[in-house]
Amino acid sequence: MKAIVVTDPADGLAGMRLTERPEPSAAINDVVVRVHASGFVPTELDWPSTWRDRAGRDKTPSIPGHEVAGVVAALGYGTTGLTVGQRVFGLADWHRDGTLAEYVAIESRNLAPLPGDVDFATAAALPISGLTAWQGLFQHGRLEAGQTVLAHGAAGAVGALVTQLAREAGAYVIGTGRGADRQQVLDLGAHEFVDLHRDALTEVGSVDLVFDVIGGDVQRESAALLRPDGTLVSIVGPVDARPVDGRAIDFVVEADRGALTQIVQRVRDGRLRANIGEVVGLDDAVGAFTSTQRHHGKIVVTMRDV
Ligand SMILES: NC(=O)c1ccc[n+]([C@@H]2O[C@H](COP(=O)([O-])OP(=O)(O)OC[C@H]3O[C@@H](n4cnc5c(N)ncnc54)[C@H](OP(=O)(O)O)[C@@H]3O)[C@@H](O)[C@H]2O)c1
Repeated sequence: MKAIVVTDPADGLAGMRLTERPEPSAAINDVVVRVHASGFVPTELDWPSTWRDRAGRDKTPSIPGHEVAGVVAALGYGTTGLTVGQRVFGLADWHRDGTLAEYVAIESRNLAPLPGDVDFATAAALPISGLTAWQGLFQHGRLEAGQTVLAHGAAGAVGALVTQLAREAGAYVIGTGRGADRQQVLDLGAHEFVDLHRDALTEVGSVDLVFDVIGGDVQRESAALLRPDGTLVSIVGPVDARPVDGRAIDFVVEADRGALTQIVQRVRDGRLRANIGEVVGLDDAVGAFTSTQRHHGKIVVTMRDV
């Protein structure tokens, strides 16, 4: 099968190349998915799981990409709940070969059924961004209606979903980013926009939840804005700036069929939009990832009909 591989962490995105790899086979409780579309988070190449398996062994050449939408092609021994030919989408295991390929083997519990009226490209943009936003806001952040959320990087892949889900949940949403992102963030439903390079974060006032996708000074300044009992949720690693009276949590997104089902239902009924910047074929994907052009939203790679 055709697949994109990386072999050396030092090469970064420049080390991605399209090649031939053996088709994967389904282990116990797996399915093999015939991939129609895949999402990819460029920072994956900095994560140890791209390079090593769970036992710490070198797993190069490694296929990146962990968001998938496609059709079940084969079932592993003992797999239940999904059938061959079924449309599915979900989050592939970090430590196994990923989804920038024509086929991927994945535990069936990491997938959810994909309704026929949601296209594969849209679905491939949802698993990491959608689940990260969902888990950060509702599980770790314990968001309640009426609370104020500071959503950093609100025009980005995760931030766009955070902004929309928080607004729908009845929060007052302050989105941040670069000046050029203002209108996009307001269109996603933010009540206010803060240009991180021109406006003072201190002017925002106090907030109940900070959703941090940036870290560093932005995180430090944001921690100081939290109300007592507020929560700083970070997805960029351990928190440096612990809030005085609040909680701080960093987490890595987990597969969750139930949450994926709720997320896709919101896409179907128009409450939620995936943040897709560009859709490219597998043959053109390496060029798109290594392009220096600024992308608004996620690059989705398509392997066949979407
Ligand atoms: N822990 C987890 O489970 C998890 C899950 C998903 C993602 N992540 C991590 O979360 C981060 C964000 O992921 P993503 O996919 O949402 O990335 P993304 O699509 O690039 O979004 C980040 C957004 O923040 C903006 N931004 C970043 N630094 C900024 C700064 N200094 N000032 C103003 N705006 C800034 C970006 O603007 P520009 O594009 O102009 O820079 C972009 O709009 C990445 O580091 C990723 O690895 C973690």
